[in-house]
Amino acid sequence: MTCNIKVRWSSLARTMAELQGAEKQRYVADLFSRISGRYDLMNDLMTLGMHRRWKRQTAALAAQGLSGPAIDVSTGTGDLALELARRPGIEHAVGLDLLPKMVSLAESKAESRGLSATVTMMSGDALSLPFANGSFACASAGFSLRNMPDVKQALSEMVRVVRPGGRVVILELSPMKHGLRSTLFHPIFHGLIPMIGRLVAGDGTAYSYLPRSVDHFLEAERLADMLSRLGLAEVDYRRLGFGTVALHWGIKVGQAN
Ligand SMILES: C[S@@+](CC[C@H](N)C(=O)[O-])C[C@H]1O[C@@H](n2cnc3c(N)ncnc32)[C@H](O)[C@@H]1O
Repeated sequence: MTCNIKVRWSSLARTMAELQGAEKQRYVADLFSRISGRYDLMNDLMTLGMHRRWKRQTAALAAQGLSGPAIDVSTGTGDLALELARRPGIEHAVGLDLLPKMVSLAESKAESRGLSATVTMMSGDALSLPFANGSFACASAGFSLRNMPDVKQALSEMVRVVRPGGRVVILELSPMKHGLRSTLFHPIFHGLIPMIGRLVAGDGTAYSYLPRSVDHFLEAERLADMLSRLGLAEVDYRRLGFGTVALHWGIKVGQAN
């Protein structure tokens, strides 16, 4: 019986990872609403706390040498927006997320860290950012592109709201090439993580969807190509977390004001 349920969960998660458009958006919104209260704890457990260092690195890279406002798209509980707000040169950071539940968790975190005055957490859709062209010195997105109903549209929006000379930075789980590492990580992603998700977040489906969504996501090289085609220069990436995560970046082409 338990085994049947497990098989059903995992095949449901596989199907859901293949969704596109409005259906995917509904599925993802429902999933993150369910797990929002345990989201931070699960990140700490799944990455043994390493996601905090990756987010610090991402914010440092995004803001490096720039001054002005910054935006973190699909901010969840706000970690990256808060990291951006701490960077020298960043005068204000915006953290935007589709889900009011996530926004309110992010606001509480900003308040408890004494950063409410330098960060604005707000609801909004990454596919249609409520900001004029060139509003920000830099834009980041962490572990969210995979969940977007339209990855290209989400990236185009980030590029649009960054000013020429500004930077777009993406931190995301990345499909691994077949080999020893991917063989070693397969049971962790497809067995251990869904099990922890079931026990800690009470949601096996959500954490079975996670590895499936990685399998269906763009390989690092293809994501870099997409960023270049969307008008970024000096696009590059580096791998983190034993190759499970990729940090991409690029500079928006055009005349800075
Ligand atoms: C895996 S969480 C990442 C949260 C955070 N960036 C982090 O690194 O911990 C994905 C987030 O994307 C948000 N999201 C999904 N679709 C979105 C959309 N269309 N616009 C804005 N946020 C969205 C979800 O609500 C969720 O908080």
